[in-house]
Amino acid sequence: MRTLLIANWKMHYGPMKAGGWVRAFRRERLPKEIDIAVAVPHVSLAAARASLGRASIPALASQNSFWAKEGAYTGEVSPDMLQEFGVQYCLVGHSERRALLGETDEMVGKKAAALQSAGIVPVICVGENEAQNKKGEVNKILRQQVTAALAGLKPEGKTPFVFAYEPIWSIGTGKACPAQKAKEAHEVIRAAIQKKFSASLADKVRVIYGGSVDANNISEYITTTGVNGALVGGASLDPRAFAFLCRTANPA
Ligand code: PGA
Repeated sequence: MRTLLIANWKMHYGPMKAGGWVRAFRRERLPKEIDIAVAVPHVSLAAARASLGRASIPALASQNSFWAKEGAYTGEVSPDMLQEFGVQYCLVGHSERRALLGETDEMVGKKAAALQSAGIVPVICVGENEAQNKKGEVNKILRQQVTAALAGLKPEGKTPFVFAYEPIWSIGTGKACPAQKAKEAHEVIRAAIQKKFSASLADKVRVIYGGSVDANNISEYITTTGVNGALVGGASLDPRAFAFLCRTANPA
C-alpha cells in the first residue's frame, strides 16, 4: 500500500503565498514512491495549480466541501466544482470544523458520499477529545464516527476513501499520540470498515495518522503496521521542511 502524506495548511496562505509554497516545494527532491497531497484554502487552489503547471506532485486537496451538487447554499463549494478544478482529495469532518462550525457525524457522512460520487477521495477525519480519551471512550467514539461516515459510501474504486485518525488532544499541541496507540485506533477503524463492507476492503483502505506529526516522529508512524501515512498541519507550512518530512517518510 502506498504511503499517503497530506499537508494541511488550515487557514494559512492566500494565493500569493500558496504559489510560492508550491514553487519552493517543487524545487526540492520529492519521493515518487509515496503519494503527496496539499490541502489548501479554496481561494488558493488556482494559484497552487498554476504553480504546479504540468507537475502532478503534490496532488491538490481541498479542506472542505458541501454535499449538494449546486443550489442555494451561500458560501459553499460543491464536490463537482472541486472535481472540475482537478482536486483529488478532500478533507471531511476535521475536528476544527466539528468543534467550531457544528459539523455533525451525519453531515460528515453526506459530504463523504457526495465527494466519492464526484470522483474525489474523501479523507474522513475522526478522533476523540482529551476527556473522552481519559474516560477510556476512544473505541466507542471511533466506532460511532466511522460508522456514520460510512453510511453513504460505496466500496468500489481503487482508493474508495481514506480515514485520518486525529486524536484532538494531539492536534497542534506537540503531544503526538504514541504510535502503538495510533495502531490500536487504526485497528478499530478497520474493524468498523470490515463490519460494514469486507475484510478485503478494510485492508485496502488507507488509514493515516494526524496530530503533531513532524520530521522527527514521521518514521515511527510510517513503520507501524496499519498506519499508512500522515495528515500534517503545523509541520507542513514550511515547504522545505515538509519536503524533508516526505523524504524521511520514504527512506528508500
Ligand atoms: P498538526 O495538525 O500537525 O498541527 O497537529 C494536524 C491536523 O489538524 O490535521
